[in-house]
Amino acid sequence: MRFSLAELLAASSTRPTGEPAWAVDAPPAEPWPLLTDWIRAAVGAGVLAARTVTLATATADGTPSARTVLLSDVTEDGFWFATSASGPTGRDLAENPVASLVWYAREQSRQVRVTGSVVRGDADRAAAAFRARGATSRAATLAGRQSAPLPGDAASRIRRAEARLQADPELVDPDWAAYLVAPAEVEFWQSRHDVGEQRLRYRREHDGWRFERLWP
Ligand SMILES: Cc1cc2nc3c(=O)[nH]c(=O)nc-3n(C[C@H](O)[C@H](O)[C@H](O)COP(=O)(O)O)c2cc1C
Repeated sequence: MRFSLAELLAASSTRPTGEPAWAVDAPPAEPWPLLTDWIRAAVGAGVLAARTVTLATATADGTPSARTVLLSDVTEDGFWFATSASGPTGRDLAENPVASLVWYAREQSRQVRVTGSVVRGDADRAAAAFRARGATSRAATLAGRQSAPLPGDAASRIRRAEARLQADPELVDPDWAAYLVAPAEVEFWQSRHDVGEQRLRYRREHDGWRFERLWP
């Protein structure tokens, strides 16, 4: 018997294997300590892809798009990631420097949602982010434009870029850019089999952060 996708989705499991404790009634005054705890707990528990987030941007006229990117750092300034400045993400951010991102630790049934303004980091940060990437990714970025249609000579262009990188491993593509999402809002969400879904939202105000629990 062949099940429909609706039946398969309904039967699929969303129950995580490890549900960490969360003292949602005693939150810190700012989101950073909680973010640090959650990221450390996810990495410590071996959560798959703990550094990936879904990043949503929009054009100036409000057309949205979303994609997965890797976080390179999370500090009290916000969330750092890197991408090509001339691609769709970079173009959206140049004309509409706001973003929303979602971090999801599936195995722990935890989600963090962030919304804020975006600033482009300096050339040193972009260079460090570029050099931290794998050789294949660096070569592909050097050889062509991210998200442009793939040309027929892509393979030979990438081979030439690989040779350039071998000759100069410090080579950086000037189009590669680091961006900081500086949050105005951070929402923590967790589901546990015993207490159900719990949510806590922080909002930045002129004199600091305000937090409140939300109806699940
Ligand atoms: C797990 C994962 C991690 C990724 N990390 C990045 C990243 O850090 N930077 C990046 O530019 N693209 C990354 N990508 C590719 C993007 O999702 C996307 O294809 C690319 O940024 C082009 O998006 P755009 O056309 O909307 O600009 C990643 C994809 C996956 C699945």
